[in-house]
Amino acid sequence: MNHHELRKKFIEFYKKQGHQEIGQAALVPQQDASVLFTTAGMHPLIPFLMGDTHPDGSRLVNIQRCLRTGDIEEVGDATHNTFFEMLGHWSLGDYFKHEAIDWSYKFVTEELGIPKEKLAVTVFAGDKLRGVGLDEEAKQRWQSLGMERIDELVEDNWWGPVHSSGPCGPTTEIFVWSAEAEIPPNSLPGNDERWVEIWNNVFMEFNKTEDGQFEPLDQKNIDTGVGLERVLMTVNNYDSVYQTDVLAPIVAAISTDQLAHADRDVRILADHIRAAFFMIADGVLPSNKDRGYVLRRLIRRAVQAARKLDFTDWPLLTEAILGVYGPYYPQLLEQEIEAEILAEQQKFTKQLTKAVNFIEKAVQANQVVNDESAANLAFLAYQSHALPLELGYEILTEAGLVLGRKSFEQALDQKIKAHQEVSRAGSEKKFGGHGLILDTGELKASDETELKKVLRLHTATHILQASLRAVLGDQITQKGSDINADRLRFDFNYPDKLTAEQKAEVEAWANKLIEQGLPMNCVELSLVEAKKTGALHFFDHKYPDKVKVHYLGDSISDAPSKEFCGGPHVSNTNEIGKLKIIKEQSAGAGIRRIKAIVED
Ligand code: GLY
Repeated sequence: MNHHELRKKFIEFYKKQGHQEIGQAALVPQQDASVLFTTAGMHPLIPFLMGDTHPDGSRLVNIQRCLRTGDIEEVGDATHNTFFEMLGHWSLGDYFKHEAIDWSYKFVTEELGIPKEKLAVTVFAGDKLRGVGLDEEAKQRWQSLGMERIDELVEDNWWGPVHSSGPCGPTTEIFVWSAEAEIPPNSLPGNDERWVEIWNNVFMEFNKTEDGQFEPLDQKNIDTGVGLERVLMTVNNYDSVYQTDVLAPIVAAISTDQLAHADRDVRILADHIRAAFFMIADGVLPSNKDRGYVLRRLIRRAVQAARKLDFTDWPLLTEAILGVYGPYYPQLLEQEIEAEILAEQQKFTKQLTKAVNFIEKAVQANQVVNDESAANLAFLAYQSHALPLELGYEILTEAGLVLGRKSFEQALDQKIKAHQEVSRAGSEKKFGGHGLILDTGELKASDETELKKVLRLHTATHILQASLRAVLGDQITQKGSDINADRLRFDFNYPDKLTAEQKAEVEAWANKLIEQGLPMNCVELSLVEAKKTGALHFFDHKYPDKVKVHYLGDSISDAPSKEFCGGPHVSNTNEIGKLKIIKEQSAGAGIRRIKAIVED
């Protein structure tokens, strides 16, 4: 099945069930400055899910372009994209669970022709925090359709709200078996990653209020999201979305290799440049803040991938993207998008040139004699000239060094670890080394009094990170943290010195949150589930299969702060006192450092 057929089938099927087709919204939400991008088809419909009358009636269907960057580190695998198209249909207080489930089943088995044996579904298992029990009704409906594999999950089967308050509800999702192997008898979406989620039926019957209550909405809604690329992948038995006819021509423009669709760099380049085209068409330009920063990051990651692939034929790539999407999105044809991308590429290249010059000087001075000294040099260039570490190998090879890739990467890995050890040992020495009653590397305390202070500062660090992201933008990520009884120290990516106003705003935001007296909660989740909560974590870190997520407030789904973190923390933010920034300084190229204290 090709994408033209799928688009048509979906719209026609739901039109037959009385739905009216509605237009798409832009990727930049027009009415809602609080969210960077349109992440789902329901987003522009929030007022109508809350009860406003929609001019086109109570049954709606469309295809919506979406952008999600929460999964950016997964891009390169078989199923994750930043930009994607979502097939969606809605009931605004009209039909509810039975019809939504029956139609989704009918569409998947009859219109897509996927056999029942290859399907599994999940339903909401129930959750005390939200005061909502197991979704018996959905479960029974699936059973009545003969569905045997039914999993019951919590966080994966709750959707929304998009903001801290708004419409949300339990979901039921449809998964397709994606592997060649036979499906093991006890295999379910919650325990086997070979199930690919293609369909999400949200039973949007709650409103989450600002004070964290889940109150029934006056109208019960259906909000369905179906990933176009994933459906094409599963229905055609492809190994990845990059073989589908929306992405395959883009992959082919990047490389003519038969296996190009399986190459991680090809996938990253294809995904990110496609996303960049749609973002620019919807009015985003590269910058250091918010949407512009996301775009800059996507283009730069794409440029890095292109370098690794020796790819230079940008006009061919443009032609491929426009060939697939031009007929559906004429706005792509009306702008000079390729020129914007190339301008950003040139800026990035200038920055890289500085790092390369630095490396070449060292190479000419014969400072590099083996893989280890090469790795040292790449690390130095990273520290002093923001050289992306993943480009170290290519650039050193280009600079005239023949390196063993594996041994170089191992040496670089060791270098990074050794650097972390050195910073740790340095602070241990400073605080007496032995005799610490707490030493997690990040947190150090030598007695009970210090311990209490350190816990306050640790929770305050989570809040500080949330505050920096709220004030400076979602691009902020942690680059380092060190806490002792005197102060917290937090490093993060930001190109400029913070202004007095920005610092005051960060403090005020954090203290407002602290004053709410929110509980610090912790859940242990599988890595996959933990990532899906949207909790902050390091992109390049290898985590164990199970991780702890600490979050503030009663519900993880819309917690103002959630992070992968083993703890320990205070149990309520009212124990923290008042956060005060005492210093803000540079900590390397593009990295800022904040030191802050807490006062009673
Ligand atoms: N709004 C449903 C989804 O994005 O899956």
